[in-house]
Amino acid sequence: MSSAPAFAAGQGGVALPRHVAIIMDGNGRWAKRRHLPRVAGHRAGVEAVRKVSRAARALGIEALTLYAFSSENWRRPEEEVGDLMGLLRLFIRSDLAELVRENVRLRVIGDYRRFPHDVVALIDDAIARTSGNSGPILAIALNYGAQAELVEATRRIAARVAAGETDATVIDAAMIEAELETRALPPLDLLIRTSGEHRLSNFLLWQAAYAELLFVDTLWPDFDAEAFGVAIEDFGRRQRRFGGL
Ligand code: FPP
Repeated sequence: MSSAPAFAAGQGGVALPRHVAIIMDGNGRWAKRRHLPRVAGHRAGVEAVRKVSRAARALGIEALTLYAFSSENWRRPEEEVGDLMGLLRLFIRSDLAELVRENVRLRVIGDYRRFPHDVVALIDDAIARTSGNSGPILAIALNYGAQAELVEATRRIAARVAAGETDATVIDAAMIEAELETRALPPLDLLIRTSGEHRLSNFLLWQAAYAELLFVDTLWPDFDAEAFGVAIEDFGRRQRRFGGL
């Protein structure tokens, strides 16, 4: 983990989180309230992704991680999974040029290689085309689960111990963090969940250890630049103690 302060002075003197993560929940309920199919909620959710990622860039936030597809989302009806894959395809095709132009580095956390081949190819191409950028990171969590991430990290370290490359007694938090998919991202400062649910749902469990948590009632498709700004202001008022006084 970087030794830099967990947050820096932002615009207007407000403490600005370096890394914000969002559990984008409530697309289905948004659609239901409008008597629309669930896919309409996800479509509106993509529009919120655009608004919020632009707002994060405008504020100077270094990294934004969005939970777009959890490792448990495979349990949804095949049609809905297909709709989400379709929206991901559309998003990459329509927004990649903007990400390249805006100096954004696109990253993915999670085992996205289980997605359809053409989606994997689109993602790989998008990551490659933004890898030379030097600006903010937009990390999308796809087929991501924090427990699986920790299991993988543990396996890799155990293999090194078994091979005699390291000793079990020297395993520490930094060694585990270096194996996590977020290793190249700043420490997580703020984790937001929309739609009134108060759960972490297997998202960034290790990384959330000292993050500020914010649960808002707004459904994800209604969460816009203004709502994001309010969340950042709320963060700015929090007193972070990291276990101290
Ligand atoms: C949760 O709402 C949302 C999801 C499972 C998917 C989130 C996906 C998007 C916002 C669109 C795809 C993203 C990108 C980056 C292209 P829900 O369906 O669980 O809502 P509900 O709890 O009201 O049913």
